[in-house]
Amino acid sequence: MTVSVIKNGAIARVIIDNPPVNAISAAVRQGLLDAVRAVEADDAVRAVVLSCAGRTFVAGADVTEFDKPPVEPHLPDVLDALEACAKPFAAQIHGTALGGGLEIALACRWRLAVPGSQMGLPEVNLGIIPGSGGTVRTPRLVGTEAAADLITSGKPVKADKALALGLIDAILPAEAADQAAEDFVTAALGAALPEITSTRATGQKDEAFWTETAARVKKAAKGNTGPVEALASLKNATEVSFAEAMAFERETFLRLRKTDQAAALRHIFFAERAAPRPSELKGVTPRPFTRIGVIGGGTMGAGIAVALRNAGIPVQMIERDAEAAVRGQANVEKILKGDLAKGRISEAKYADLIGGFNSAADYAAVADCDLVIEAVFEDFDVKRAVFAELTRVCAPDAILATNTSYLNPDEIVADLPGPERFIGLHFFSPANIMKLLEIVPTSGSAPDVIAAGFALAAKAGKMPVRAGICDGFIGNRILKLTRTTAERLVVAGAEPSQVDNALQKFGFALGPFRTQDLSGLDIGAFQRKAARGRGESPWAPVADRVFEAGRLGRKTNGGWYDYDTAGKEAPGTPAAVAEAIAAARADAGVTAPATFSDAEIVEAIMFPMINESAKIVAEGIAFRDSDVDLVKVAGYGFPRYRGGPVQYGRAIGFAKVAEGLEALAAKGLAEGPSEALKAWAAKA
Ligand code: NAI
Repeated sequence: MTVSVIKNGAIARVIIDNPPVNAISAAVRQGLLDAVRAVEADDAVRAVVLSCAGRTFVAGADVTEFDKPPVEPHLPDVLDALEACAKPFAAQIHGTALGGGLEIALACRWRLAVPGSQMGLPEVNLGIIPGSGGTVRTPRLVGTEAAADLITSGKPVKADKALALGLIDAILPAEAADQAAEDFVTAALGAALPEITSTRATGQKDEAFWTETAARVKKAAKGNTGPVEALASLKNATEVSFAEAMAFERETFLRLRKTDQAAALRHIFFAERAAPRPSELKGVTPRPFTRIGVIGGGTMGAGIAVALRNAGIPVQMIERDAEAAVRGQANVEKILKGDLAKGRISEAKYADLIGGFNSAADYAAVADCDLVIEAVFEDFDVKRAVFAELTRVCAPDAILATNTSYLNPDEIVADLPGPERFIGLHFFSPANIMKLLEIVPTSGSAPDVIAAGFALAAKAGKMPVRAGICDGFIGNRILKLTRTTAERLVVAGAEPSQVDNALQKFGFALGPFRTQDLSGLDIGAFQRKAARGRGESPWAPVADRVFEAGRLGRKTNGGWYDYDTAGKEAPGTPAAVAEAIAAARADAGVTAPATFSDAEIVEAIMFPMINESAKIVAEGIAFRDSDVDLVKVAGYGFPRYRGGPVQYGRAIGFAKVAEGLEALAAKGLAEGPSEALKAWAAKA
């Protein structure tokens, strides 16, 4: 039985049992409605405790039902019946009560929760709003302001905060919670019953409150319409009758469910759940690791060391000499002291984190590490020498990983002993903050070594995505192409700021030129130099000139943009950049610079990105198209509510993207559509 009723004297118990998280399926809704009718009809029952089996209360809607038409009975109707039932209900919450789960509790007469349980309305994270009274009942319990916070942020609150807000009536003891809930209800029946939620008053707010809140919510939502729509429904709920408010909320919910944004957010939601569990590793036990070595203590090495320490893993850093080892130690301390200053960690925590870290210059110090991550200069010979040394000092089954951005991990470790233990673990900067981790198996990686990469991600709170070997793996391969495309637009006639602004309006955190200014133009310049050394001919006629003019970005107070001493960007294209653009245009024979609309710029950047994503999937560099999307969203500031390049292409139609690429190719702004993209277009 998905929902069962246990009668035991005056207080009945209704139990929802729908593993693993008691999601609200059609069977749960029907079962709940039947249970309401059963207790209603039973004269022996005076009140009801509603609880859930397993590890949590109802954790939300069954997201797999979202793409299908709603099935009766609808949750708002079930909850109306529950609320109107002559036998008052108490929700007994443990684990999480999210979305529809909390809405069930809101319709009960009392809400009781064990310590540590969490309650929230996260619908806006999926591009929708609560659809079963979340925006209508919440303000009646906690007031309009607190409701606005809960509903528009989507963030859950813990039991103690929920009690302070008035969202729940009591905190139950962790032990014997069932008995405590029944005792609470028995005692409550001795007094006048509290009013049902829907007939309570909502706090009225003036227009100034709504204008100010709407502006704040819109800004924080960064293009996600869910929070804005949720606030509108809340406002409406304070102005009209309960029934009208419920109808308005439901209409909004049903309308938003069908939008591209909601589809995109669901797509990323599922991508995040699929990526950490690769089917090819099912049943493989990860090779264990307890102590990790990090080679190189620069930007990445220090960030990785902190990420590992935050996960409770002892870390041994190795730098190239004693002086560099001290610098590496200082780099780690600097990050941790920053966390301390911001109040993210306590003094005691700082002492614990730094206590489990050591920096040295002698490779013997990593002899007892069972996993070592290399993050030295992006130089083939330096990396190769590091791995040769590691194979000498480490145990033969120790896992040896490279954090290289662009070099081929297979080539770095070619012919070194123990090919099954090598792997690429590509972190993102700052590595203690960024969630993405590309896991790059080498041709020899053993399954338990690959599984260890995923286990490390789980332990360190990272989002792992498996990537195959190619220039730049998944993320940087697309990044490189985007930079080339952006520069093509500039040579053809666009200003760098126009490209950046158009993409930021589209929803990117930063445009490609501003991103380069942030990370430094030297990184790309060194890569191009190395590529030219290998006989390749990377194309960056403007970036090369800007770099040669000594403009490395923010660190030199100027790159694609000028910055004042406070770091504020000056408007306009700096003279040195304008000169570089003019020279590149002259070389390319561009006599009359073209003008572009923002929409044309977005197409010129996005269509090649979609094309490259199709190639990446066809080549097996990514196993799933959703992995490509996840990489761009988690690591490259791609707007989450657009779902990543593939999902965005799907929304437009791959055939239309292919057509658009033909047109861009005719103008020399992009390659034509790949066979892989044409195949997607034919299938769609
Ligand atoms: P970095 O220049 O800040 O640090 C490199 C460190 O390696 C230096 O401290 C250097 O002293 C040390 N080192 C050099 N040779 C060594 C040796 N033989 N033994 C021990 N230590 C040695 O460079 P960064 O930015 O940390 O990059 C390191 C690696 O991470 C590169 O492969 C890079 O491509 C990759 N990476 C960089 C990202 C970034 O945004 N900076 C992002 C992801 C990967």
